[in-house]
Amino acid sequence: MKSILDFYRAKEKEEKFTFVSTYDYWSAKLCEEAGIDGILVGDSLSMVVQGNDSTLPVSLEEMIYHSKAVRKGAPNTFIVVDMPFMSYHASVEDGVKNAGRVLKETGVNGVKIEGGKKVAQLVERLVSIGIPVMGHIGLTPQFVNQLGGYKVQGRTEESRERLKQDAKALEEAGCFSIVLEAVPADLAKEITDSLSIPTIGIGAGSVTDGQILVFHDLIGVFEKTPKFVKRYIEVGKMIKETLEKFSKEVKNGVFPSKEHEY
Ligand code: KIV
Repeated sequence: MKSILDFYRAKEKEEKFTFVSTYDYWSAKLCEEAGIDGILVGDSLSMVVQGNDSTLPVSLEEMIYHSKAVRKGAPNTFIVVDMPFMSYHASVEDGVKNAGRVLKETGVNGVKIEGGKKVAQLVERLVSIGIPVMGHIGLTPQFVNQLGGYKVQGRTEESRERLKQDAKALEEAGCFSIVLEAVPADLAKEITDSLSIPTIGIGAGSVTDGQILVFHDLIGVFEKTPKFVKRYIEVGKMIKETLEKFSKEVKNGVFPSKEHEY
């Protein structure tokens, strides 16, 4: 299994690495078998699995439930779990207790926290007790109401400056990597070049040290995906056609046939 040291080394050697955001046993198993370097149990599960219109509703209990299944599917993969909305916002103590629960109860390797300077104190505490932390800046979906939607960040000088400072603060606090979401590629390059820890991009161009995509997006489960996603296959369409075929065959008496009988 990879450790945070492997991600540091990858940056040093300028070797790109991959993370996939996913939430269950079978998809985690496929990620491990395919040699994906790390899995994130993202709070995007709120939207992708639970059908909510934001990441805010998913609970810590639900994140733990899914993380246990992911660990079973990928026993030899480095796994990070998103700390969900309100599991670390009220106090540093809450954050420490809840992140501790995630590691203790699921056997994963680290947590991800959204935010910059404002979460630096919590990052320091978690790292001091041995919990690796992945930072997340740029478009931070838990702030959707504050950001006014899912919009590209770092478009103004002020916002660029703030993101650069946030990245530095997270590095100084001890994050082992930082996700840069939906930021212009030139800003992602500036941040990536200025840090000794790896950056992981999603909608941040090709310059980051690693790339992350949501499993369901990259296999084309839903009809629409954001601009930054490459749909490698169209699984949604394939599954729908398969289900239609099954339904037709049952109704036409084609399935089950003799070969499926006992
Ligand atoms: O929740 C998630 O899946 C994420 C990634 C897309 C970075 O935060």
